Formats: sequence, structure tokens, C-alpha cells
Amino acid sequence: MPIPTPTAERDTPFDVAALAQLASQFFAALPGTTPLPVASAASVPSPAAGGLNLPANPLPPGVPNGPLPQPSTTQFAGLGAGVPALNLVPSGPDQAAARAKPGAAQLPHAAAPNGLPDSLVTAAPGIDGRLGGVVLGVPQAQAPAQPAAHGSPFYFLDLAAARPEPPALELPGLGLPPLDLRSPARTPFDVQAIRRDFPILAERVNGKPLVWFDNAATTQKPRAVIDRLVHFYEHENSNVHRAAHELAARATDAYEKARSTVARFINASAEEIVFVRGCTEGINFIAKSWGDKHIGAGDEIVVSHLEHHANIVPWQQLAVAKGAHLRVIPVDDSGQIILSEYQRLLGPKTKLVSISQVSNALGTVVPVHEVVAIARRQGITTLVDGAQSVSHLAVDVQDIGCDFFVFSGHKVFGPTGIGAVYGRKAVLEDTPPWQGGGNMIADVSFERTVFQGVPARFEAGTGNIADAAGLGAALDYVQRIGLPHIARYEHDLLAYATAAIKPIRGVRIIGTAADKASVLSFTLQGYAPDEVGRALNEEGIAVRSGHHCAQPILRRFGVEATVRPSFAFYNTCEEIDRLVAVVRRLARA
Ligand code: ALA
Repeated sequence: MPIPTPTAERDTPFDVAALAQLASQFFAALPGTTPLPVASAASVPSPAAGGLNLPANPLPPGVPNGPLPQPSTTQFAGLGAGVPALNLVPSGPDQAAARAKPGAAQLPHAAAPNGLPDSLVTAAPGIDGRLGGVVLGVPQAQAPAQPAAHGSPFYFLDLAAARPEPPALELPGLGLPPLDLRSPARTPFDVQAIRRDFPILAERVNGKPLVWFDNAATTQKPRAVIDRLVHFYEHENSNVHRAAHELAARATDAYEKARSTVARFINASAEEIVFVRGCTEGINFIAKSWGDKHIGAGDEIVVSHLEHHANIVPWQQLAVAKGAHLRVIPVDDSGQIILSEYQRLLGPKTKLVSISQVSNALGTVVPVHEVVAIARRQGITTLVDGAQSVSHLAVDVQDIGCDFFVFSGHKVFGPTGIGAVYGRKAVLEDTPPWQGGGNMIADVSFERTVFQGVPARFEAGTGNIADAAGLGAALDYVQRIGLPHIARYEHDLLAYATAAIKPIRGVRIIGTAADKASVLSFTLQGYAPDEVGRALNEEGIAVRSGHHCAQPILRRFGVEATVRPSFAFYNTCEEIDRLVAVVRRLARA
């Protein structure tokens, strides 16, 4: 039946005003609610008029984490040149006293950059009144003698009293003395303040405070990211690049600013950044565009035994289509790649080396600088999969020297559905488009299409604009804390967990490389990994148990699945204690 065109309000299928009235009465009648204001154009503030007060990045472009003020800092012995000296903050009641000290001017909360609470951020004095660098706390001399750890709602078990102190830890990798992670005064940032930035960490699961140890699968989102998404949809939502109106300009600015942020985060230039859904789409894009052009019959593609399925399957598909071959770098019994074997694999037919920087299943940190340098000396194109590295290590694609680098936003505290491919400009320019459509074209007729330059020619259709902006906010947030600080803290967190889990009877740690990040994969004799996962879940602890989309490397160690806690900078030793208590209980049963 044809639907008549409405000509006046009475012709519409329902009365909009009456509906709004009804909705308003309904919500007003609900206990504890206030009626929603009726939006009008005039009531929607523009960003300039101070809608959501999104913090500006006060650091100059290209400077990821400005120099920290020198006086009253505590240098960790042995820290490398890249690790700035820290001011150390006590948490809890001592914070107030600490803040009252002269020389640490407190910022109003709204001015805290990227959602960092004012408990975390103090302004460095004497720098034109601007925030000259993020000062994480106060000098050690002002720190409390005793950590103010207990009494927090997160510490539902008083495990510190119940268990002995962990043994002295070996710290392979960084070669640094251990931090005292139980003392907020000895950690590089105030982890409790950081936790308050992540609303979901206050959730309860099965009546217990959530412990999020599934960070290798996805990370939780800080308020700064959540607010950025809301702000986009409330004030900027439009398609990009396509219209001469205000919101198109705002959305385009947000999208392109996010591209610049991504570029700065990994030391690339914005034209070298292609937005994709995530790592998997990024690798598929490279396989189906660059690969289709550059890989031929008889050519060889080298991956490592550590790879996630996303860095195996697209290359297998390409190899089958082209008559090429996949070659695999073996790993030793610790789960580290064997460099000498790698070198032996390379030859005149090798066209690509594609390798993870950090293994998602074992946590191995692969020496990608060496891997790439060896390949480049032979003119071989290189791709580094940064899915598991960007949230744990500072990444500099110039320093690594790779041709491609891919990562996913959701693994670095950003939204799902957005990620980035870095391609060295000359390599991208030698890469054909893979999907056709709007946005990627300069001119279309029925006879031929002229494509845009890079990177637009790889972004057909409407991109994930809001989540790109969210990713930018996530990267800003991470840079505020500073990846050197994060790497330092997580390194010791992993060492703490390893030392506590390892001695438990029946535990076998899978992946014992000297250099690891975040991941502690293990099996427990007498239990299937998913049984351990379920027991942990009953206590509110989220880990992944299974094959982690990396079956070849697990089979290399003779297992089909592991339990995999994976850590982030918002995790604590107390949370690890809770996990260890469950594993101990199971082991005793
Ligand atoms: N690749 C993700 C993981 O390791 C999903 O869990």
C-alpha cells in the first residue's frame, strides 16, 4: 500500500509532541530520575563555547612525554636514558598532605589533561603558568614511610597478611632493580589514582571486585576515551571530507587530528597512517594490496612460530593464491625466536618478513629491531605486528626501521573497531588500493577512476570517525602517563606474578623468555585451562583460557590451551595475590 506523503503535522503517523510529553511524564515518574531537558539548537554548546571541556594537549607536537621537572626527583638506579626521573606520589590520605607542599600547584580537576585526576597531575611551577610536564606525585622525601594500601574497596582479601612476601625477583629484560609495588611511594605513578580513571574497574563480578587480567584480549577504557566518544556524537557527528558545513569540518578535524596523534605516537607522519578496523584488517589489507602486487609464484613469506592467526592466515591465503611459500622462524624452549635460524631462512626468494613484536600467547618480546635490520640488509620488506606491544613498550617505527606496522585501538585503551596501519611513504605509494568506493577517489567516470593519494586511497567508504577520535584520546592518555613508566611498572608486575605462580605445585609456565611483556601463560596439572578460568571468574577475576588464536605456538610447547592472565598499568599486586590464592587452592585440592 503506498504511504501518503505527510503534508502537515496531523498527517504524520504519530503525534511527536504528544510522544515527547508522554516520555517526559514517564521518566519523571521513575524514582531517582530527573526529567531530561528538551534539546534545542541554542542549548547545544559548541566546543568553543565550552561544551565538554576536552583537555588540550599542552605538549608540543612530536614530544610524547615532556621532560619532568628536575628538582626533587628520585632517579631509579640503572634506568636508561629514555626513562625520565620520577616524582613519586603517595596515595590515600597522604596525598592531601603531599599536595599541600609548596612547589606542586594543584590543577583544578577540569584542567587535568585527558581525564587524569588531579590527584595524579600537578603543574610544574615556573613554566609560564602552563602545564610543563606531568609530575607524578611528590618527592620521595615527602612520601609516607608505610604504604596506605589497605582499606581500599579493591582489597577484598587481606592477602598481604596471609602470604609471605614474594621472593626477590630476577628482572631479566630491563636490567633494573625491582620496584616495591606494594608501596605507592615506590611505584612510578599512583596506580589507585589511575584506576579511578577507568569506571569499569569498580564493577563487581560474582559479588567480588572485578580483576581485569584479560588485557591481551582487550583493554579497559579510561573516562577520557568514553567522554571523547560522547563529545563526538553530541557535538561533532558528521561524515568527513565531504561537505561545506560546520559539523563536517568538526568531524574532519577530529578524524585528521586523531591520525596525527597516531602518527606522533609511533613516530611516523600522518600521511603514513591508514585507519583500519584493527590489526587483523590491517594485515589483510597489506596482504591483499601490497602482497597481491609484490608476491609471486615461488616467493617466500617469513613469519615466526609465535604468530597470532591474524599474522598467519592472510599470508597462507596469499601463498595459496600466488603459488608462494610460507617459511617459519623457529623458537627455542623459552619461546624466543632463534635469530641464527631466521637468518638461514632468508634468501633471494624472500619478499616479506612479517613478525609480532610481542607474542599474545607467551608474552615474548621479539627483537624486532634486529629482525628488521637483517631483512632490510637484503632488501626484504618488513611488517611488524604491534597488537600486543603498543600498550606496553614505546614504539618508534623509524627506530625499528620496518616498512609496515599495525596495531589495534582496543588493545591500547581505545575503542574497538579502529586501528592503524603505518606504511613507510614510499612503500604505501607502491601499494595499490584494495577496496573501491567513495572517499578513495579523485575522479570517477565509467571509463576509468583516478585514485586519491596516500593514505586516502586506502580508506574507501565512511571510516570509523568517532572511534578514531576515541583512539586519539586513548593515545594521549597513555602518553600522559608515559610508556617508559608503564613498561617499568608492568615489568615488575609480571616479575611479581611470575615469582608467585611459579612455585605452585602443578603449575607450568609456558613462555619463559628473558624479555617478556604483560603475559603469564600457564597450565595447572589436573585442570583444563577453562576450569581454572571458571574458578577465577567465580572470584571476579577475568583471564583468557584457550588457544589465544595462536595454536601453532601452543602446540610447539605440547599444549592446546593455557590460562593467560595479562596485565596492564592499572593492575596491582593485590589483584595478583587474589589470582594466586585461587590457583593455590586448586593446586591443593
Ligand atoms: N588477540 C587477542 C588475544 O590474544 C584476541 O586474546
